[in-house]
Amino acid sequence: MSRRRILITSALPYINGVKHLGNLAGSMLPADVYARFERARGSEVLSICATDEHGTPAELAAAAAGQDVRAYCDEQHALQRDIGAAFHLSWDWFGRSSSPENRALTQHFADALEDNGLIEERTDQMIYSIDDGRFLPDRYVEGTCPICGFRPARGDQCDNCGSLLDPIELIEPYSAVSKSTNLEVRDTRHLYLLQSRLQDKIRAFIDSRPEFPPLTRSIAYKHLDEGLIDRGITRDLAWGVPVTRNGRPRPGFETKVFYVWFDAPIEYIAATQEWANATGGDWARWWRTDQGADDVRYVEVMGKDNVAFHTVSFPATLIGSGEPWKRVDVLKSFNWLNWYGGKFSTSQKRGVFMDAALEILPADVWRWYLTAQSPESADSAFTWEAFQNLVNKDLADVLGNFVNRILKFTETRFDGLIPEGGAPGPLERTLADEVSARLAELTSGLEGLEIRRGAQALRALWVLGNEYLTEAAPWTAIKTDRERAAVVVRTGLNLVALFARVSQPFIPATAEVISAAVGDGAAVRSWPGPDGAAELDRLPVGRPVKAPDVLFRKIEDVQLADWAERFGGAPG
Ligand code: 2FM
Ligand code: ZN
Repeated sequence: MSRRRILITSALPYINGVKHLGNLAGSMLPADVYARFERARGSEVLSICATDEHGTPAELAAAAAGQDVRAYCDEQHALQRDIGAAFHLSWDWFGRSSSPENRALTQHFADALEDNGLIEERTDQMIYSIDDGRFLPDRYVEGTCPICGFRPARGDQCDNCGSLLDPIELIEPYSAVSKSTNLEVRDTRHLYLLQSRLQDKIRAFIDSRPEFPPLTRSIAYKHLDEGLIDRGITRDLAWGVPVTRNGRPRPGFETKVFYVWFDAPIEYIAATQEWANATGGDWARWWRTDQGADDVRYVEVMGKDNVAFHTVSFPATLIGSGEPWKRVDVLKSFNWLNWYGGKFSTSQKRGVFMDAALEILPADVWRWYLTAQSPESADSAFTWEAFQNLVNKDLADVLGNFVNRILKFTETRFDGLIPEGGAPGPLERTLADEVSARLAELTSGLEGLEIRRGAQALRALWVLGNEYLTEAAPWTAIKTDRERAAVVVRTGLNLVALFARVSQPFIPATAEVISAAVGDGAAVRSWPGPDGAAELDRLPVGRPVKAPDVLFRKIEDVQLADWAERFGGAPG
C-alpha cells in the first residue's frame, strides 16, 4: 500500500523582523508538531513555510533599518530560517515569496484569472503624499482609527480594535514615511479580482469541507453571508511582483506590483517549486490534481486573522484559474496567544520574541508551554507565573523526575543494564491498559490537529510513569524480591522509551536525549502501536542504559523576576 501523503503549510511569517511567541504558537509550532507526528506514523510529509517578503511591511521595515529592501529581505530571511531551525521547526523547505518561482506563478494566476473574465481594471481613490511624491497604500499612511479612536492606526488595519481599514477612512492621516500631512486623494488604476462572481463556487467549496473546525467555518461563512466583495490585487509600490499581462509589462501598471496578499498564498505552491528545483523533488505531485495530488491531504495552519484570506481569497485564485490545483482539506486556525491582557506586537515590540526566548531557555521548554497552552478554542494569555508553574510541574517534576529516577535506580541497582525479571503482574497489566487508553487519546488528538488535547494526553502518560513507580516502589521490592524489582525497572525503562517516542513531536531535542539514554536511538522518530502491553515489553533485556544529565532545570523565582524586568509584564 502506498504511504499517506500529507502536505502541510503554515502561514508565512512577514519578513519584517523576528517573530514573537504568538506567531510561533498559532502557526509554525502546531504545524511542526503535526508534521513530526505524521512522519513518525510513516506518512510521506512535505512541510512548507517561507518568508512573506512583499508589501508595505517589508518596505517600511527596510526603510526603518536604513537598508535596501532586497538586502534587508536577504538578511531577515536567513535570520528567520536559522531561528526556526533553532526551535527545531522541521520544514522540508523554508522559501521566499520574492523567489523567481513565485513571481512567475503569481503572474500566471493573474493571466489565468483574466482569461476567465475574473479581473477588471478600476479607478480607485488613494491617498497621495505630495511631499513624498508617491501614493501611500496600506501601512504607508497612519492616523486615527474611525472605529475606536486609537492613534496611530495603520492604513490597512487598526492594531487596537483589529478593524480592517481603507487608508482613506483614517481621521487626520499622515505619511508613515515622512510624517507629512500634506496629502490629497488622487485617482489611480488598479486590478480587481471579481470574487463576487465566485460566491457560489466558494460556498460550495466550504460546504465540501466539513472537517474544517468551527473557528474556520464561522469566519468563512460570515464573509459568504455578507456577500463576497471584489478585491484590489495591485498596489502603487515598487517592491513586489511586477504586474504583467501575458509575459509583458501591463500598460499603465509599470510602477505597480501585485498586492502582497495576492502573491503570499501562491508562495505555498511556489515554495514547493523552490524545493523541487533545489532537491529534484516533484512539486506537481503535491499540487496538481491531474498529476497525483488528489491523494494528498493538504493541511493549512494559521492564526484567525488569516482565515478569510485562505477560505475566500486564495480559493478564489485557485478556483478562478479553472486549473486543477489542489485545495486545502483541513484549515486549522488558532486564536491569539496574548501577552498578559494585551496583544503581542511586532510593530510595538511587545512580548517575547523568538530570538530572545532562546537566549533564556531551550527551545523545548517553549515548545511545551506553547503547545500545552495552545490558544486553540479560545485566546490564551501568557504570564510569567503560569509559565514557571507549568514548566516546573510538567517538565521538571513529572517527566524529568521520572526519567531520572528510573535510570539512576537502574544504574545503582542493576549495573545500568535492562534487567529480565519475571512476568508482568497486576500492576503492570493495569498500567498497560491505561497506557493504551492515553495513547489512543494522544493519537486521535494529533490526527485531528487538536494540539491541546494531544498535550493533555501526553502529560497524562507522563503522570502514569510517576504513579506507577510510586506504587510499585522498586526501592522497597529490591530488599526482599529482586525479581519483582527487576520487572518494575524493566517496565519503567520501556516507559522511558515510549515517552521519548510520543514526546518527540512536542519536545524533539529532549526526546532524542531520552531515547539515547535507553539506547533506543532512531526509534524515537517512529510512532508506537496502540497496544500498551507490547510497548511496555519492547526493549531487549541486557541492553546498557545511562541516566542523562538533568533534562529540565526548574525555573527559579529570581530568574522569573529577572525576565519580568527584562521583557516587561502587563502591556503599558
Ligand atoms: O499575517 C501574516 O503574518 C501573513 N504574513 C500571513 C501570510 S499567509 C500566506 F498567505 F502566505
Ligand atoms: Zn480601532
